[in-house]
Amino acid sequence: MKTPEGNGSTSSLTGSMAESDALTSLVTDAGRAIDAAATLDELSDVESTLMGKESAIAAARRGLKDLPADERRDAGRAINEVAETITESIRERRLVLSAAEQDAALAADRVDITQPARVPRRGTHHLVSEVLDEIIDIFASIGYRVARGPEAETDYYNFTALNIPQTHPARLETDTLYLDYRGVGEERTAGDERYPLAHAPNEVLLRTHTSPMQARYMEANDPPVHIVVPGRVFRNEALDPTHSPVFHQVEGLAVDDGITFADLKGTLAYFARQFFGPKQEVRFLPNHFPFTEPSAEMHVSCFSCGGSGCRICSQTGWIEMLGCGMVHPAVLEHVGYDPATVTGFAFGIGADRFAMVRHGITDLRHFFESDLRVLRQFS
Ligand code: DAH
Repeated sequence: MKTPEGNGSTSSLTGSMAESDALTSLVTDAGRAIDAAATLDELSDVESTLMGKESAIAAARRGLKDLPADERRDAGRAINEVAETITESIRERRLVLSAAEQDAALAADRVDITQPARVPRRGTHHLVSEVLDEIIDIFASIGYRVARGPEAETDYYNFTALNIPQTHPARLETDTLYLDYRGVGEERTAGDERYPLAHAPNEVLLRTHTSPMQARYMEANDPPVHIVVPGRVFRNEALDPTHSPVFHQVEGLAVDDGITFADLKGTLAYFARQFFGPKQEVRFLPNHFPFTEPSAEMHVSCFSCGGSGCRICSQTGWIEMLGCGMVHPAVLEHVGYDPATVTGFAFGIGADRFAMVRHGITDLRHFFESDLRVLRQFS
């Protein structure tokens, strides 16, 4: 047998008879096996069959010692030549196969640079945050500073310092969320039947508006004061399309020598036109707030219909923007300012409502439910 597998008798390779025939057919068979190897792995298998310890060549080399000494050299040389020929064939085949495998790997990895890129979805600012930032930017551009206050506030700053009477219904637990519910029991049942007894001034509650920062800021700073106070506020409300226990306000306060209602109107009209558009009309209607006197609410002509009436303005042509007024002298006195020498105006903006109006959103809950399908429409 002269198969490349090297099975059977190998002595014929080293025997003198038909020696060259055997070698020739070994080379031919080896060449076929090498060409037939389709992968580098297959080629390695073929290589160990052809050249390894069990191979015909190895057997032939082992058989050399049994030859007569005068034949041994020629036979050895012949075997070496065959081995070299086969080794060379394997080397060439390996080059071909590895080039092919590399080509295949590159082809499999090919990137089509003409494909449009997959853009990752990016987060955006919440609509209410956007409105807050915009309001702040408008006031910052005319010299207002941003101040921030605590969300857990005392009864004193939330109500008393703002001239809100002890009997005011906003102080009720049905309106205000108290954290430190002191005074439950006998103390609370005494006094006015219609209203709870006065809460202690240091009783802690979740601020119901951003107005307490008026008092805190003026206590800590001398006039002139020009601040806006963005922040979260809390009320004892159930969540429905137009109410939420948490919402956002921006408080504004300007106090200086000789500030008048004309300053209030000019400043807030400027703000309305910056926010809603340069052609907007504004109007002021009388209102009441304990911490301002006189008090007003400002309306802006509907940015959507221009005043003729539409869904956004509930057919009125006007959009209510904010509450405002001249700072009540009692508030100035509470913080140690002299109402005879300084005056000021204040305003409170509902940022959530601004965002609803601007984007035509009719359900406040969309802002708090984080439904991506809603939020994505505005990204
Ligand atoms: N604090 C009021 C509220 O929460 C809003 C407000 C109205 C603030 C008039 C003011 C103001 O500063 O002058 O409803």
